[in-house]
Amino acid sequence: MEKPTYYLTTPIYYVNAIPHLGTAYTTIASDAMARWQRMDGRDVFFLTGLDEHGQKVAQSAERAGISPQQWCDEIAPKFQDTWKALGITNDDFIRTTDERHMRGVQAFWTELFEKGYLYKDTYDGWYCVPDETFFTQDQLVDGKCPDCGRSVEFVHEENWFFKLSEFADKLLDYYEEKPDFICPETRRNEVVSFVKGGLKDLSISRTTFDWGVPIPFDEGHVTYVWIDALLNYITAIGYGGTEEEQAKFDHYWPADVHFVGKDIIRFHCVIWPAMLMAAGLPIPKKVFAHGFLLTKGEKMSKSRGNAVSPRDLTEIFGVDAYRYYFLSDVQFGADGSISMERMVQVYNADLANSWGNLCSRVLNMCGKYFDGKVPAFPESQVGAPNPLRDIAEGIYGSYHAAMDAIDYSSAVQAVGELCARANLYVEESAPWNLAKSDETADELAAVIYSALEAIRIMALFYAPFMPETSDEVLARLSLDGVATIESVKEACTWGGLPAGNTVTKGDALFPRLDISDITLEEM
Ligand code: MSP
Repeated sequence: MEKPTYYLTTPIYYVNAIPHLGTAYTTIASDAMARWQRMDGRDVFFLTGLDEHGQKVAQSAERAGISPQQWCDEIAPKFQDTWKALGITNDDFIRTTDERHMRGVQAFWTELFEKGYLYKDTYDGWYCVPDETFFTQDQLVDGKCPDCGRSVEFVHEENWFFKLSEFADKLLDYYEEKPDFICPETRRNEVVSFVKGGLKDLSISRTTFDWGVPIPFDEGHVTYVWIDALLNYITAIGYGGTEEEQAKFDHYWPADVHFVGKDIIRFHCVIWPAMLMAAGLPIPKKVFAHGFLLTKGEKMSKSRGNAVSPRDLTEIFGVDAYRYYFLSDVQFGADGSISMERMVQVYNADLANSWGNLCSRVLNMCGKYFDGKVPAFPESQVGAPNPLRDIAEGIYGSYHAAMDAIDYSSAVQAVGELCARANLYVEESAPWNLAKSDETADELAAVIYSALEAIRIMALFYAPFMPETSDEVLARLSLDGVATIESVKEACTWGGLPAGNTVTKGDALFPRLDISDITLEEM
């Protein structure tokens, strides 16, 4: 049977800066979902990439004294390397300077032009280069960009316009028909009231610089960078390509979810669906907007000078703990304050003392009492109450529901509960006492088997968040890695751990950390 598809995307990042915690946040969140959907049996396509055109990038290149293409070619590997280091499993990496993308953008223009959705007019207004956004005079706040507070420049050009205003009612109908299209709810309300205020036609070409995709039917015009960027979601999977490429597009489109930050919701929930409606293409199923990572109450960003590189943190905590912290401690969808102190706290409590400690104790005891082989679960213990089994049997349901709701903290919590219960179970059953007499040998085997089995199941469900550790734990139980799992629903069935498997203790998964003297701000 053919697997159902699942297509998810991150925003494509501007190449004016190297990756920081903020841009890495969207990427690890998307990766956790991609990993989960794969193990839950879907044919996943996970896309990320780079937004390489526009004035902002052209200016960065100019400041560096190199061509924009050279600039992009230098920055691109920095993103790719960072994603690799963070365990990101993207299936493709689109760059808007790719030929396949430029070709697709031009095909899209031709389509909209032929359908009568474009016209030429003079644009008089303001432009914020850092945000690559147009503003009218009355949108400015004290003459500055209403979004980022920086200076704006006046633009007076003959531009191509997209008849966005024609789509206001269609968009409002769509939001009503598909209440889950924009998540979370607060973002949905924000977008609905914005569209209810009426939409103006959108300038979609520029003539005063040339770092962009040329408009195919009017020389001297390049595509407005946001339009160019949004189209990556379809050009990467084959839109505007050969027959074979188009077939891939038909296979994966519409996207199941676009993950974005809350700052770019209007582009994704207003302009993007209107563009697709105009072209007669299906609309993505969901746009999920996460909040900002804040340090000392401020958004972390390159321009504020408070951007920390992911590597600074992974060197201290390791990749898995890094991913775990951001996805479990910050409620996905809301803004979240992050701090070094809190990161150390979460690391020590959840990972060193709970998950790491459980693995180390149980694997150690298996070595000590059963010669490092998984004991068979004794017949005599089959009907006995087993709290771990009860919780483990419910975990697929609760975890699945949390992931469906894109609520990472709750998914992690479902596993954390089993972990806490397993630590308690070991404590209560005191295997070290059971090991003292032959009469309790069956009980001892049942306890160790159950604890190992709970560990195996936790490793499965922790894998989207902490992939390396999960594979390591499975390897210590002589099991294949998570990538081989076709259906986690089947794989997590209680009793799946084969008796007789060799168990290796290994080093501590999360050695306790004692750092109190570095702050994120100092980094
Ligand atoms: N190039 C556009 C996106 C085009 S998508 C068709 C862009 N790029 S960006 O590099 O500026 O930002 C990309 C994403 O990173 C946005 O979703 C943004 O919200 C996110 N973050 C940047 N800083 C952030 C934080 N401090 N916290 C959380 N995410 C933030 O916008």
